[in-house]
Amino acid sequence: MKMGIKDIIVWRIIPGLAVAIAAAAGFFLSHEFPFAFIFATVVPLSNGVLPPSVVGHGKMRGTPEVPSDLMPLPRPKDELFLDLPGGGKLPQQGIGMCCRATATDDVLVYRTVLWYLLLGGRHIDGAHVYWNHAAIGRGISEAIRRGVPREEIFVTTKIFPTHFGFESTKENVQNYLRELGLGYIDMVLLHWPQNFPLLSSPCQKEGKSRSECRRETWRALSNLREEGLIKNAGVSNFSLKHIKELEGFGAPIANNQISFHPFEPDHVMETVKYCQSNGITVTAYSPLGLTSITICSGMRDKDRAHANNLLRELSSKYGKNVSQIMLRWAVQTGCAVIPGTGNPDHMKENLSVYEFYLRDEDMDAINQLKHVAEGFTHVDVRQLE
Ligand SMILES: NC(=O)c1ccc[n+]([C@@H]2O[C@H](COP(=O)([O-])OP(=O)(O)OC[C@H]3O[C@@H](n4cnc5c(N)ncnc54)[C@H](OP(=O)(O)O)[C@@H]3O)[C@@H](O)[C@H]2O)c1
Repeated sequence: MKMGIKDIIVWRIIPGLAVAIAAAAGFFLSHEFPFAFIFATVVPLSNGVLPPSVVGHGKMRGTPEVPSDLMPLPRPKDELFLDLPGGGKLPQQGIGMCCRATATDDVLVYRTVLWYLLLGGRHIDGAHVYWNHAAIGRGISEAIRRGVPREEIFVTTKIFPTHFGFESTKENVQNYLRELGLGYIDMVLLHWPQNFPLLSSPCQKEGKSRSECRRETWRALSNLREEGLIKNAGVSNFSLKHIKELEGFGAPIANNQISFHPFEPDHVMETVKYCQSNGITVTAYSPLGLTSITICSGMRDKDRAHANNLLRELSSKYGKNVSQIMLRWAVQTGCAVIPGTGNPDHMKENLSVYEFYLRDEDMDAINQLKHVAEGFTHVDVRQLE
C-alpha cells in the first residue's frame, strides 16, 4: 500500500524526530558538561575538521611531535610581566588553549603545551569549557620532568557560568586541580558575567539573581585563594558595571580577560584604562582579531587585520609580520596577550614580541584604527545583565 504525505509525516518523520531528540537528550544529559561537548564539537566542524569529541583523539594533524631529546630553551630575553595584587607576576606573552581545531585534540594539546614551555613560554590560558585540562596537565607535567620549574609556569583557567555558585565553585576548582595535576592554580577567572539562554547554574536554581551568583562565585574564589589552592582570582568579559560590583568584596580582582585588538570600539579602551588604573591587569584575548568562528562571519577578523594598510606598512618598517605588530601593540598598551597556536613556528614568532619596540608615533597611529572597527566581530558585554 502506498503511503500518502500525511502518513509519512505521522508514521515516519515524527517518530524519527522523537527518537533523534531522545537520543540527543540522553547523550547530552549523560555528559557532565554538555555545553563543553557542543563547543568542542562545533569549533573543529566550523574549521572543516572532524571533531575529536566524535571521531576520537590523536587522529587530527597539526602540531608536530616534540623530539624526545628537546630540553627547555632559555626564557625570552627582555621578557615583560604585569604586577598582580599580592605580589605575583603575569608574563605578558601567553598561549591560548581554545577555539582552534588543534585545541580540541588531546594529543595535539599535549604537544602544544610541551612545545610552548620548552621554547621558553610560561603563561598558559585554559578554561573548563575548553574541555582539555587533562591534556594541558600532561604537557605541563612532561615539561616539568624535562626541567621547567613549576613556579615559573603561570596557569589560568576559568569557571563557566553554568557552574557559578559557592559550593559549586569550590567543588569545580578541586576538579580542575585534579584534572590539571597541579597543587595550585595561578589564576581562576569567572569566564563570562552571566549564563547563556536555556542554561542554568546551581546558584540560579536556588533562585539567586545573576549578580548574587557572581558574588557567591567570587566569595568561593576568595576562600580558595586564602586556602592557597589558587593564587589569584579574576574575571573575564566583564564590563565596568560588573567589575564595580565585585570591587572591595573578598579577593582583589587580579585580572580582566577581554577581547582586545586595535579594531575594538572606544569603550573597550575605557575598560582597559579603568582596570589598569585600579590595579587590575588586563589580558587581551583574540589579540589578532577573532579567528575561530568562520561559519557566521565569513571572512575572519585576522584576515581583515592582515589586509590593513597601516599594519602592513608597519610590518615592512619593523621587519615583523602583522601578527607580531598587533601583539606588540597590545603588550605596549600594558596588556598580556594569549594568541592560541598549535604551530611551534608561530609560538616562536609570538614569543619574539619582546624583541622590538614600536615608536610612539606608530603606537598613536594604531590607536586611531579603532575608528575603523566596522566589520570586526564585537560582543558588547555592557549589555549583559
Ligand atoms: N575569555 C574568553 O571569553 C575568551 C574568548 C576567546 C578566546 N579566549 C582565549 O584567548 C585565546 C586566543 O583567542 P583567539 O580568538 O585568538 O583564538 P585562537 O583560537 O587561539 O586562534 C588563534 C589563531 O591565530 C593563529 N595564529 C596564532 N599565532 C599566529 C602567528 N604568529 N601567525 C599567524 N597565525 C597565528 C592560529 O593558527 P595556528 O594554530 O595555525 O598558528 C589560530 O588559528 C584562546 O585560545 C583562549 O585561550 C578567551
